[in-house]
Amino acid sequence: MGKISFAGRNVLITGASFGIGKALSKEFAQRGAHLALGSLPQESQALDAWAAELSDTYNIRTWTFPIDLLSSDGPDRLYAEVSRAVGDIFALVNNAGVVAYGRFWETSWDRQYDVYRLNFSVPMRLMYLFLPDMVRRGEGVIFNTSSVSALQPTPFQSVYGATKAGLQSLSQAIRAELKGTGVTVCTLNPPYIETRLLSSQGYPRDLRFYTISGKKSPEWLAEKALAAFEKKKMLYVPGCSAKLIHLVLTRMSPRFLVDALSRFFLQGWHSSGRRGT
Ligand SMILES: NC(=O)c1ccc[n+]([C@@H]2O[C@H](COP(=O)([O-])OP(=O)(O)OC[C@H]3O[C@@H](n4cnc5c(N)ncnc54)[C@H](OP(=O)(O)O)[C@@H]3O)[C@@H](O)[C@H]2O)c1
Repeated sequence: MGKISFAGRNVLITGASFGIGKALSKEFAQRGAHLALGSLPQESQALDAWAAELSDTYNIRTWTFPIDLLSSDGPDRLYAEVSRAVGDIFALVNNAGVVAYGRFWETSWDRQYDVYRLNFSVPMRLMYLFLPDMVRRGEGVIFNTSSVSALQPTPFQSVYGATKAGLQSLSQAIRAELKGTGVTVCTLNPPYIETRLLSSQGYPRDLRFYTISGKKSPEWLAEKALAAFEKKKMLYVPGCSAKLIHLVLTRMSPRFLVDALSRFFLQGWHSSGRRGT
């Protein structure tokens, strides 16, 4: 497989107004991609300002789509509006996501269900909508922002980890089905990144895992991610310690140990995980 060039190609990124999606959009812009950027409607001003800055700085075309992907027709509306305004999309970056922290049964059902839908059903639907066009054209790529949480169970963020594991399995299965079509699916599996996600209601500020993993910046992640995207890596975990922990140690260790250590490290030093949101 050759290296992808994004110059002059249309790239759609969901959740592009802040955090990882925003940092990824800058890296794509630096490579000359034209960008369709999504966010929640209440962040449309921030998104428009960011799109204008990218457009001026990198001399690229940008479009903004402030659509709530959790509304019943959100993904279908995004597909329709992007197709009408932008035309063909070469790369779809399924990045929008949310987390809920707390014991499964103590966390509000609505919040759990939003996590499930935004992190799993929405990217599944968007892949279902965009893939036929890509396959027809014989080119295209989907980048799903998964997580290291996909690679072992995540107590106190059980639904989050399950959605990322599901997205991982779905991505790898579809990638196998796509062989020979010119289209592929890749996952980005970040460790902890300092964004608003980690300030979600109830999320411990003193998570024990930070002591061994630290937190990286979205810019650190995005630079590494784009290098991996260009090579169409199937699953990309950035950083040596994250690779060691999530790709080696969790696979070599007995299941009971992985479960016990996950339970220990995914709580705050001063909180127990008993905080439903
Ligand atoms: N931060 C981490 O440690 C980490 C680690 C591994 C994986 N990830 C994954 O990385 C992705 C990005 O997360 P982040 O850390 O950058 O978090 P973030 O700063 O909170 O960004 C999340 C993005 O998703 C968008 N979004 C949320 N709800 C939405 C909805 N209903 N409709 C449309 N867009 C919506 C937000 O849009 P608005 O700006 O408009 O609110 C925002 O742009 C997520 O899939 C997350 O699971 C994060």
